Amino acid sequence: MKMRLDRYLCELNLGTRSQVKRDIKAGLVSVNDRTILRPEEQIRTDTDCICYKGQPCIYEEYVYYLLHKPAGVVSATRDRQDRTVLDLIGDTTRKDLFPVGRLDKDTEGLLLLTNDGALAHDLLAPGRHVEKEYECHLAHPFDERQRQLLEQEMEIGEKKPVRPAVVQVLEDKKITLTITEGKFHQVKRMLHAAGNEVVYLKRIRMGPLVLDDALPRGSFRRLTEEEVESLKHDRSGHL
Ligand code: URA
Repeated sequence: MKMRLDRYLCELNLGTRSQVKRDIKAGLVSVNDRTILRPEEQIRTDTDCICYKGQPCIYEEYVYYLLHKPAGVVSATRDRQDRTVLDLIGDTTRKDLFPVGRLDKDTEGLLLLTNDGALAHDLLAPGRHVEKEYECHLAHPFDERQRQLLEQEMEIGEKKPVRPAVVQVLEDKKITLTITEGKFHQVKRMLHAAGNEVVYLKRIRMGPLVLDDALPRGSFRRLTEEEVESLKHDRSGHL
C-alpha cells in the first residue's frame, strides 16, 4: 500500500501528525537507508524499510483487540447518546476499527474489535458456527426440562428454529450456554422460551478466544499472534 510518510508514522502511534512532521524534518526518519526530510514523501508500506530513530518500523495493516465490555456501553462505532466500545479502545489512528458482532448494552464480556473485514465476515458467516459461550445468571432455578429444551432445536420467533445449545449448570440459578449463531438477543430469548429469564449476561468465550481473569471490566488488550492464527483456522467452533 502507498502512503505519505507522516501518515504512516502516525498510524504506528509514533506521535501526532505535527510531532512526526517535526521528527522527519529533524532527520530522524530514513527510508531504505536514505534520510527523508519531506513528510509528504510517498512510501510503500509493503516493501520499503522505514527506520525511526534508527529502529525499523513494523507496519500492521490489521489490528485485533479483545475488549472486556462493561454494561452500559453500546457495541457500535458511534452513537449520539451512549459511550461506544470504540470510545473505550480510544485508538484514534484506526478509523476503520469495528466490533465483530454485537453484545447488548447490558451484556458484559468478550468482544473482538478489528479492522480485518475479511476475518470478521468469516467469523460472522452463518455457516461458520463459531461457538459463543455465555455465563447466564437466571431469575429462577434451572431444571432438567429447561436443559432439554435448550439442547434441542428451539423456536424463538425466528424464521427457522435456532440450533441446539450446550448447557453447563454452575449453580441453582447460574449456567453457561454455548450457542453457534448470533440472533438478536438470542440467549435471553432462548432462556425465556425455556421458561426462565436472564438477569445478568456475560460472554466468556468466542471460538478459541477466552476472556481471561487478568482483563478487568472496561479494559482491553491486543490479541497475540497465536490467537489471531487460531481465529483464522479454528474449526472447533462447530458443535
Ligand atoms: N444473547 C443475548 O441475548 N444478548 C447478548 O448480548 C448476546 C447474546
